[in-house]
Parts: sequence; structure tokens; C-alpha cells
Amino acid sequence: MKRPARPAKISAVVPAPSAPSARPAASAPAPAPVPPQVFLPKPTLKRFYGHGITGVDLEKLAGKLVVIEGADGSGRSTQIAKLVDWLEVSGHATVQVGLKRSTLVSEELDQAQKGNILSHTTMALFYATDFADQLENIILPSLRAGFIVLADRYIYTLMARAMVRELDEAWLRNLYGIALVPDAVIYLNLSPEHLVQRNFAKTHSLDYWESGMDLGFSRDLFDSFLKYQDLVAQRFNRLQAIYGFEIINGNRSPEEIHLELRQKVAAVLAGRPG
Ligand SMILES: Nc1ncnc2c1ncn2[C@@H]1O[C@H](COP(=O)(O)OP(=O)(O)O)[C@@H](O)[C@H]1O
Ligand SMILES: [Mg+2]
Repeated sequence: MKRPARPAKISAVVPAPSAPSARPAASAPAPAPVPPQVFLPKPTLKRFYGHGITGVDLEKLAGKLVVIEGADGSGRSTQIAKLVDWLEVSGHATVQVGLKRSTLVSEELDQAQKGNILSHTTMALFYATDFADQLENIILPSLRAGFIVLADRYIYTLMARAMVRELDEAWLRNLYGIALVPDAVIYLNLSPEHLVQRNFAKTHSLDYWESGMDLGFSRDLFDSFLKYQDLVAQRFNRLQAIYGFEIINGNRSPEEIHLELRQKVAAVLAGRPG
């Protein structure tokens, strides 16, 4: 049964009265000026990775889907917030999706994880349901309405995690054949050692699941985090070879990374490959 859990963050179109440089001076140095953005995203034909969802008219998906991937603490939230600011100043409406944010099962998945009652297969299927719900009810309708959808992680994280837990790769690729191929996928790459520092800066702790503690590598959270993130990164490399997303150096200043992301998203809006 549906009920409001964690709604997607939706931001309406901002009319863009002024360029970013006309904003009040912030303490950080202003980003380098960029050429004005195209107002209406240039349409490009979308496709699903596999079987997709039936009854979807791909030609009507006028918006753009941009995915930011990366481990816990890699800076995804930071970069998505900056992209939202920049896009909205340019007059684009945005919507944000991410893992475990569906109204359908996010709370149940949370509960099941707390109780540690899921097998690797049922956990993967739970996450797949969470993804499918957001795809059907948020991503596709938003793209139909011309929104820029910013996804904080996508099927690749789900596949990499499941592959570390030894689920069959062909089965996973088939399962996620439901997914729409994004217009751009950018993976923020950092070493596990840097990720530990970031996570401590953020929450002063490491997350149980992001440390792969369920896999029993080590009783020590640090040790487990380093081993687990290393394994996930290896699976990401494998997935990169299949799905061809971009891997960028996440170990730079937020502003430097943002400028690179802007260029890629601007290319997407203009209908060019990032
Ligand atoms: N490029 C960066 N350099 C240094 N610290 C960063 C950078 N990007 C984000 N941070 C900090 O690292 C922590 C994790 O960033 P966050 O954006 O929350 O990551 P994620 O959403 O990927 O978990 C936060 O404390 C954030 O302020
Ligand atoms: Mg985050």
C-alpha cells in the first residue's frame, strides 16, 4: 500500500532573472563564468538497458537523467546540491531521486536492514523494488514533464554491492534491464582511505552496511570498511567496462569537481555526449 515516505525533492522552475555572477558575494571564490545555458534541453532519444517498462513512449521523455555515483562520503550530495543551484539559476526544473527513497518500500527496507533479516537475494530484490517504484512514479513522469532528474546513485551501486555478495552478474543485468539508460553517469572516485576521512568529517562514524559488516570480513569497522569499499570499487571498474560511465577524480576541491560536472551537464542539455 502506498503512503508518503520520503518524497523526491522537487524544485519548480526558477525564472532565472539573473546570471550566477549577479548573486551576493559568498565567502568562497565565485566559480568561473560559463556561457549561458540553453533553456530547453535538446531532446535525444532515450532507451532502456533491457526489457524496460512496458507502455512508455520514449520519444516523450523530454527531460534529462543525470546520475552521480560514488561511495559513501565521495561527495555526491555536495555535488548534487551545487548542480541544483546552478541548473535552477539557468531556468531548469530539477527533481532528485536516490536509493531507498521510494514511497513504496523505503521504510520497510530500512526496518528489514535494522533487523538484519534479509538474505542477499531478498535484499537485492528489495532495492530493485525501491528502484522500480521511483523509476515508474518519479523518474519517468519527471522526464516526461521536461525535468532534469538528478539521481544520487543508480543501478550500478546496487549491482556492485550485490556482486560483492556473490549474486550472479547475468541475473543482475537482466533484473536491471528495467532501467532507463541515463544521459550521463559520473562516478566520483576516491580511495577507501580518503573515504574514511570524509565519513568521519560528516558523521564521526562509518555506516554498518557501507562497511560491509554483514559480510564478516572483520570485526573492526575500519578494517571492514576499507576491504569492502575496495571490493565495491573493483566491481565498479568491471561495470564501467560494460556500461561505459565516466570516472572522475573525487579527490579535488568541491568547486573544481563542480566545474567539471557543469561542463558535462551542459553538454547533456545541448544534446551532445558529456
Ligand atoms: N571535494 C570535497 N573535498 C573535501 N570534502 C568534501 C568534498 N566534497 C564533500 N566533502 C565533505 O565530505 C563529506 C561527505 O560529503 P557528502 O557530499 O555528504 O558525500 P556523499 O553524499 O557522497 O556521502 C561532507 O562532510 C562534505 O562536506
Ligand atoms: Mg549523501
